[in-house]
Amino acid sequence: MGSSTGGSPDRPGAAASGGQLIRAVRRTGPPITLAVDGRDVTATDGDSVLAALLTQRPFLRRLEFGGEPRAGFCLMGACQDCWVWTEEGDRLRACTTPARSGMALRTTAPVLGHHG
Ligand code: FES
Repeated sequence: MGSSTGGSPDRPGAAASGGQLIRAVRRTGPPITLAVDGRDVTATDGDSVLAALLTQRPFLRRLEFGGEPRAGFCLMGACQDCWVWTEEGDRLRACTTPARSGMALRTTAPVLGHHG
């Protein structure tokens, strides 16, 4: 972090990309593309899903019960604040799931009892 991160008057120190996280060290792996809520997200091979998303957006998902923005809390697989779902409905912790090229994720829970 530092003065080169940009930001705005209402979010001083925020990443110029609009992301919640700022990389302290530039990653050098090959770029990968995954789909999140139907939109392509470019990440770097070796990123977690959480890092891939939060370097580009201000929050991960909205809380199911009140709609508040959530961005994970512990970043180590303990708090369960970073759930995302596969298109098949499997729930994943974004902070401990490696981003893979071609994966398709949702940031909203599937509707219970709804298949397809
Ligand atoms: S951020 Fe806590 S479990 Fe992922």
